[in-house]
Amino acid sequence: MITAKIVGTGSWLPKKTVTNADLEKVLDTSDEWIVSRTGIRQRHVIGEQETVSNMATYAAQRALSMAGIKAQDLDLIVVGTVTGDVEFPAVACLVQGNLGASRAFAYDVRAVCSGFVFALSNALAYHQCGRVKRSLVIGVDALTRTLDWTDRSVAILFGDGAGAAVLVSDEEEGHGVFSTHLRSDGALWDLIYYPGEEGRHPCSGVKLEGGRFLRMCGNKTFKVAVSELANITLEALAANHMGIDEITWVIPHQANRRIIDAVGKRLGMPAEKFLVNIDRVANTSAASIPIMLDEANRQQKFASGDVLLLCAFGSGLAWGAALIRW
Ligand code: COA
Repeated sequence: MITAKIVGTGSWLPKKTVTNADLEKVLDTSDEWIVSRTGIRQRHVIGEQETVSNMATYAAQRALSMAGIKAQDLDLIVVGTVTGDVEFPAVACLVQGNLGASRAFAYDVRAVCSGFVFALSNALAYHQCGRVKRSLVIGVDALTRTLDWTDRSVAILFGDGAGAAVLVSDEEEGHGVFSTHLRSDGALWDLIYYPGEEGRHPCSGVKLEGGRFLRMCGNKTFKVAVSELANITLEALAANHMGIDEITWVIPHQANRRIIDAVGKRLGMPAEKFLVNIDRVANTSAASIPIMLDEANRQQKFASGDVLLLCAFGSGLAWGAALIRW
């Protein structure tokens, strides 16, 4: 069976950082509270003049350069994002224009924090059926633009950035991205949502208050995240007749250090297998997994044959996992 091998990764973070000390000055919070409850010490925040499509383009250029592949040779661009510069067209089309990837078809996937894993799964399906040979998968978001910076329960959690991976079709059995698993539960849509200016309640049609800001029920989200991230990991392993010990590295969505630790405990996996950068970047939504993937790749953490588990969770609710043999 054809799979897709990752041959290049890239990431991009805005220059501006906001530390916990900066937030202490404007919010009733403390560095001690934020670090102990979330593991976050700072976040990168998109500037007024910066754009989501440019962040995605810079990450993509780095991934293409590592892959040694020209943008003109791409067949497909899929972007996981919910914070495009404009409502439409897709960020993927803006990136395509920036890169000059004129042969590719391009579209966005809206799976919020799980956006990269959903986009990767989409791209993999095109590789598997032979429709594409070279694809670019990006996760990018600027959720800080949706935040009420006076609300301490959410303002501390998020950062902005972009991450990208270039994939090529590969016929070596069991190599590359070889299995993806996606789930969602729309009954829990209101645990994390962003109404937008015109947002209406999905049942009553009544205009939602506070449309300009992201809303979250952190406590409940935390519990579902821990159990579903563990469940999807077990599902991915079972589908491939693999044991937990066969995973070399886990790249989890970076939403909360305590979520990551609790998933590790539940699965009986050592903390050293989990790659974590939440202290420096916070929750970057769809960008979180590909940024960590790129950082670890550039640090040459992965050896040939290593098994990587990517697992994501977020608004939708939507969650998923991908298994990769490096
Ligand atoms: N600084 C200080 N105190 C804060 C605070 C902050 N930034 N944010 C909340 N608090 C307070 C609350 O007001 C509450 O005070 P009270 O007990 O007097 O009412 C107390 O801390 C505990 O609040 P709670 O919401 O129960 O804390 P928590 O341990 O659940 O941590 C989150 C809050 C948001 C960090 C945590 O629930 C979380 O990370 N949830 C998952 C969120 C997530 O992953 N979202 C995205 C998924 S992609």
